[in-house]
Amino acid sequence: MAETSSNRRIVVLNGPNLNLLGQREPDVYGEASYADLEKAVAEYAAAKGFAADVRQSNHEGELVDWLHEAEGAAVGVILNAGALTHTSIALADAVRAVSVPVIEVHLSNIFAREEFRRRSYLSEVAKGVISGFGIQGYKMAIDAIALE
Ligand code: DQA
Repeated sequence: MAETSSNRRIVVLNGPNLNLLGQREPDVYGEASYADLEKAVAEYAAAKGFAADVRQSNHEGELVDWLHEAEGAAVGVILNAGALTHTSIALADAVRAVSVPVIEVHLSNIFAREEFRRRSYLSEVAKGVISGFGIQGYKMAIDAIALE
């Protein structure tokens, strides 16, 4: 199969605990599983003419490595860093270190929850933030990349 050119490739990175989607606090994050998320995002991207490379890791360093790898290899990155959003200067610095645009996405509205979730180290370095629309938020981020 031909390699997807970097200008049609979107890297979608999901951080800690997102593998438990559907089982984990479904009242907050919804009933769809991580596999459902992967499928919905890949299908939506394909319909828009992109190939989505959807990944998940519970490890901060792996997410940093993937951000580095996206440089020059993707047209945009969609990043739901989970709780690392609120703690990780390393991830924020990785976003600063690359020129590929990074869109921060959250399933829940992080501004309508606990106080500690209102602080995102990523928002100040992200191209933009989409928060509170569940899996649809990833599709909105794909639309944002497509409109660029
Ligand atoms: C989340 C919000 C974070 O505060 C939380 O730690 C998550 C998921 C979201 O998608 O709503 O793990 O990023």
